[in-house]
Amino acid sequence: MSSNKPTIKDIASAAGVSAQTVSRVLNHKPDVAPETRQHVQQLITDLDFSPSEAARSLVRQRSKRNSFIPGKVWNDEDGNPIQAHGGCILHENGIYYWFGENKDTPTKKNRLIGFNVDAVGVSCYTSTDLYNWKNLGLVLPAVKDNPAHELHINKIIERPKVIYNALTQKYVMFLHLDTEDYQFARVGLAVCDQPAGQYEFLGSFSPNQAESRDLTVFKEDDGKAYLLHSSEWNATLYVAELSADYRKTTGVFTRNFVKASREAPAVFKRQGKYYCLSSGCTGWDPNTAEYAVAENILGPWKVIGNPCLGPNSNQTFFSQSAFVFPVSGYNDAYIAMFDQWKKEDIGSSRYLWLPIRFEGEQMVIEWLDEWDLSVF
Ligand code: GAL
Repeated sequence: MSSNKPTIKDIASAAGVSAQTVSRVLNHKPDVAPETRQHVQQLITDLDFSPSEAARSLVRQRSKRNSFIPGKVWNDEDGNPIQAHGGCILHENGIYYWFGENKDTPTKKNRLIGFNVDAVGVSCYTSTDLYNWKNLGLVLPAVKDNPAHELHINKIIERPKVIYNALTQKYVMFLHLDTEDYQFARVGLAVCDQPAGQYEFLGSFSPNQAESRDLTVFKEDDGKAYLLHSSEWNATLYVAELSADYRKTTGVFTRNFVKASREAPAVFKRQGKYYCLSSGCTGWDPNTAEYAVAENILGPWKVIGNPCLGPNSNQTFFSQSAFVFPVSGYNDAYIAMFDQWKKEDIGSSRYLWLPIRFEGEQMVIEWLDEWDLSVF
């Protein structure tokens, strides 16, 4: 059967390199000169090349994983590094959905935070075992043609968090939306009928008229949900009750960790108590993680300290918190997700997933070179 789809050989001849070099670029092998890699990648995009199903399935077989290796490149089932930074996990009907920022685009200089990337959008991956992830692509792409759009590629689209709203029967995605100068500081909202369909962007809002940058959401078993967001130029973390449809705040909110500059909040509930893991406020650079415990999500929160243990635990193993989720089918099992930012090449930032261990009510996140779910 003939097809007009370009082959690896076509890309190779257009780029003036060998087919082997193209395949090394496709497989993200390190020993390709950066200019060659960029040139080949550009042609792959321009000629709309996609590997055949046979090639994909070969890569899938080769890359089947059965453990977590924190900080190492984590490829999806097609053999491409996962692009889901600042992410979250949604679990439904035996499927895990990993939403995160796609940052697969060149890093550029930013006056305020040193480095940044054009926004690409929010990607979604699915898995049934948490080790192997299938890329479903962008569920909320950045907008290319309208610079005034809140999702335009020159804006900041970060830390997507998705929860299901039973009242509206919609999956609701919350985003940190910002302008390059970080003055916009609003919450973006997008909804979808399915967990991993194309999300419809509804616009943005300021929770209780306050600024909002790093954020997360927490949903109670009874459906009530809360938005936790860094506010007051990141000095204070607000916990805000969300309306029944999750599309606005209700006016009920608290100011927490006042002037303590906590960011990257990740919240979960264990045995009736709330735990909030967060980072300090040093941009892409790592700092010391801290956790706090509360009887009520609105506070008061009691700061306990750094939960990390092991080498570089004072710098959160060179990473920053993103999310914590309970592992389905296991008792008292939680995974903490962190981003290991590579600020000069943000798209190659890594992930670090580690199990949370409890010693009484004390939370311990110990470094492990490699681990699997049998630790629970
Ligand atoms: C961090 C924040 C990240 C990103 C980064 C930019 O503090 O948690 O999501 O915004 O700053 O420097």
